[in-house]
Parts: sequence; structure tokens; C-alpha cells
Amino acid sequence: MTLVLGIESSCDETGVALLCDKRGVLAERLKSQSVHSQYGGIVPEAASREHVRDLPRLTKQCLADAAVNASDITLVAYAAGPGLLGALMAGAFFARSLATVWQIPAIGIHHMEGHVLTPLLETRIDEPFVALLVSGGHSQLVDVKRIGQYKLLGETRDDAVGEVFDKVAVMLGLGYPGGAALARLAQRGRADAYHFTRPMSKDNTLDMSFSGLKTQVRYLVRDLCADEQVLSNQQKADIAASFEQAAIDVLVRKCTQALKKTKHNTLVIAGGVSANLRLRTALNQQSQINGWRLLFPELHLCGDNGVMIAYAGLLRYQAGKRDNADISLHPRWPLQDVRY
Ligand code: KG4
Ligand code: ZN
Repeated sequence: MTLVLGIESSCDETGVALLCDKRGVLAERLKSQSVHSQYGGIVPEAASREHVRDLPRLTKQCLADAAVNASDITLVAYAAGPGLLGALMAGAFFARSLATVWQIPAIGIHHMEGHVLTPLLETRIDEPFVALLVSGGHSQLVDVKRIGQYKLLGETRDDAVGEVFDKVAVMLGLGYPGGAALARLAQRGRADAYHFTRPMSKDNTLDMSFSGLKTQVRYLVRDLCADEQVLSNQQKADIAASFEQAAIDVLVRKCTQALKKTKHNTLVIAGGVSANLRLRTALNQQSQINGWRLLFPELHLCGDNGVMIAYAGLLRYQAGKRDNADISLHPRWPLQDVRY
């Protein structure tokens, strides 16, 4: 039996999980840091401090939830990048210290590889496939030739799509991070109330652009609020729905192009924005039309969590990968540089 302790601390969630190769997820704990909302963005130093404070407690809780002893654990997997350096350090030092004391190996995991693999935890599929990675820091299309071999097909040239959801949410007074709140508000709005152009959706590359969409929303809000007018709740919902539809149209078109280009017939979507229900519905429709297979993570595993790191660690371990004892962190780390 292989039992992996997974530690995620790359940004503003502290995630810990215990995953068993035979029995699946035995325990998972997640702490989303609320300290940043008052600043309207992530404060790196505060994130590190909270990871340091919360990791021991969450780990103890996981061991208790799963009723396992530390001596049963085979491996500690931790996020080694990309992410905030101080936040990664907090998790890496904690993970490496445990592994040293317990005399077991530790493996540094690419955070985005964790996202890509999460949907495969429930449903094993054969490679190759296309992965759409959409989070607060990334918007990428990746050709997964096999697990551990990733080729970047295209990515955003400016803001990540989750980042733009968060910024539009702030414009509509929904707080930070507001992607999920914006999606909820959009359910009450009309997606055709306002017209936004879909940047780069018709060009031949698989690159994307979202900052122009954000600017279109900013100008619309400015115009609607001229002469000290205040947005009505219906206007806010209509803006949310129209923006969301525009962003999703871009993603769906790019996925369609990526599957055509690679000739793969499976699409995996992952990362925080993969929780978006309108995106899921739109991709489901496209999959039915085109005969693709479509995989999402379970809703609660779309955002950052310890399970995804544990699972990527388990697959690496099973493939015979072992890290040496160095702590090597990569705040910027292209997924295609991951090696098996
Ligand atoms: O993967 P994740 O938890 O963290 C990063 O690695 O960035 O993704 C977080 C992002 C945030 O930008 C958040 O607003 C967005 O995912 N998000 C959503 C939804 N839920 C979370 N965006 C759109 N619709 C949602 N339902
Ligand atoms: Zn993430």
C-alpha cells in the first residue's frame, strides 16, 4: 500500500490530504485564507504566515480523520511551483521536515500538473488528450502526450481568465476573490444584455487574451455610472452574465480549435474556473456535437487543494521518480519543463 501526504501552499489556500493507492482519498482539509479580501488582492507575506500557522493543524486533523499513524505514510508530496516564493517555501520546508523526521521520501510537484491530473483521479483515461487549464494565474491549452510530457499549445497573452473574473467582480462590488460570486450573480442576468467583443477568438493561434474584455466592462460600468448613477442589481447581473458569456465563448472556441489541431478526442478541464457551470454546460454541448470525451474535476477539487498534489505525487512515485533532499522551488515554472 502506498500512502501519500499532499501539501498545497502555492498561493492563498492551504491544502492537506491523505491519498492511498488502494483506498483513494482518506482525508482532505482546506483552509482558504480570508485575510486578503480586505486588500483586494493577495498579500504574499500574509499568505506565507498563514500557511506556516495552519499546516501543522491541518495535517494533524487529516491524520486523525483518516485514523492513520505517521509511520504508515510512504511519501510526502508538496507544491514546488509555480506560485508565490514565500508561500511555496512554507509548504516545502514543512513537507521536507516531516519527510526527514519520518525517514521517507518527499517529492516537489508542479502545481499545474496537479490540476491537470485531478480529473483522472475518478476516471482513468488514455493519453493523449488536450487540457484546458483555467485558474487565477493561468489560462493555457496543453497537449498531454502522456502523463509527464506536456506541450504548450497556447496561453493567454495578458491576464488569466480567473484573474479577469476577479477584477470584474470587484467592479461590481462583489469583493475579492469574486469569480464564484460573479458566476452566481450571472445566473440572474441576461447574457445578451450587453455586447462585448471576443478578443482573439477568430485568429489562427491557440493563444488567448482577456484584458481587453476586462477593459470593455470597465468602460461600460463607467458609462452606466456617469452623472453619479448607481448600477441597479439587474444591471449588475446583466453585466456579469454578458461578461461571463463572452469569456466562455473564447474558451470554447479555443478548445474546439485545439482538438481539431491535435486530432485528439478527449478534453480535460481543470483549475478554479473549471468550477464554472456555464463553462461546463457549453463544453458539454460542444463535446456532444463533436463526439469528444470531456472530463472535469469534482466541483470541490477545481480550486487549489492537497488532493491534487498527493495524486500527482503518487503517480510520480509509482513511475519510480524520486527527488534528492534539496529543496528546489520554482515560482515561475513552465509546465512543459516538467520531466518524468
Ligand atoms: O486554481 P485556483 O483555485 O487558484 C489558482 O491557482 O489560481 O483558481 C482560482 C480562480 C480565481 O480567479 C477564482 O475567481 C476562479 O478561480 N473561480 C471561478 C469560479 N470559481 C472560482 N471563476 C469563474 N467561475 C467560477 N465558478
Ligand atoms: Zn491552482
